[in-house]
Amino acid sequence: MEKWFTQGLQKWYSHNKRNLPWRHQTDPYKIWVSEIILQQTQVKQGLSYYNKFVKNYPTVKHLAKATEDKVLKDWQGLGYYSRARNMHSAAQILMKENNGNFPKTFEDIKKMKGVGDYTAAAIAGFAYNLPHAVVDGNVYRLLSRIFGIQTPIDSGVGKKQFQALATDLLDVKDPATHNQAIMEFGSQFCKPSNPDCQNCIFKNKCYAFLAGKVAELPAKSKKIKVVNRYFNYLIVADKGNAILINKRAQNDIWKGLYDFLLIETEAETGSKKMVELNEFKKITGKKFNILHISKMYKHVLSHQNLFAKFYVIKLDVTHKKTQKSVKISTLTKYAFPRLIENFLNNCNLNELF
Ligand code: ADE
Repeated sequence: MEKWFTQGLQKWYSHNKRNLPWRHQTDPYKIWVSEIILQQTQVKQGLSYYNKFVKNYPTVKHLAKATEDKVLKDWQGLGYYSRARNMHSAAQILMKENNGNFPKTFEDIKKMKGVGDYTAAAIAGFAYNLPHAVVDGNVYRLLSRIFGIQTPIDSGVGKKQFQALATDLLDVKDPATHNQAIMEFGSQFCKPSNPDCQNCIFKNKCYAFLAGKVAELPAKSKKIKVVNRYFNYLIVADKGNAILINKRAQNDIWKGLYDFLLIETEAETGSKKMVELNEFKKITGKKFNILHISKMYKHVLSHQNLFAKFYVIKLDVTHKKTQKSVKISTLTKYAFPRLIENFLNNCNLNELF
């Protein structure tokens, strides 16, 4: 253990920590909820969701008893929806196999759906003060810079190396505070771009600062490949203005959420070409009225750029009973991805029909 590092870190933390609700918690369930929310979400955005979840689902049992639709609706807007589906399913498994009791060891916590090394270490540390070092994006960044580790963080070797160093640095007398402190320092001080190195408590020790390599660390081996996808959404209303919606079941983005009838194309497709497509004709039949074609909406995900256009269409028939159709006024009950929510906020469907 490097004393200068561990002690410096905890001193900094005691003066600079943010007052966050999960930091007053030792209930492993609530810590779990906070860590799943914070896996791919910034604290600022995650806070209101955390408060909503612990209010709506104060225990494992409450979460397990809820419907997946309700859980996804409460998650709406956070993205990475598999986190919510896994959490919900893990709660049901805990009810079935463990009487709703939260596991008490790192190994058993890690067996839960959606929980990896980082989350298991965080829960074990914050709830039970067990000595497991957390390594998240913040920790990779500050360790690579301070200790000058150039191994790519997205390689197997790198992951092991960083975990070993973090474990070596862990203050086993107070792992909970140490883990909070190291993440807080990474997120609040050793920032990804333009960190305030001149005022850093580690400036005399930091390899990256002394070697002028702050912007180069942490090293990554792979570039993220981003694909473009083109979504053409058909919002199809029947005689009674009931609109067809679709629950996304395939293993793709937004599994479990709702959207409209989708025609995905290889490239941007104009409306003339769109109405000629067999897929389009199959949905609308011969008689239809296009009431509105939206502008192109661009929605950026981590590995995909989505380009979406919405066609609002009126038919002179009644939707079949086998199709899922809903009134405009009840659309808000369903969990839609943010892209669709944005469109619905811009377009007043009531006025169109
Ligand atoms: N990011 C992930 N876990 C966190 C925590 N417990 N506190 C602040 N930021 C976090």
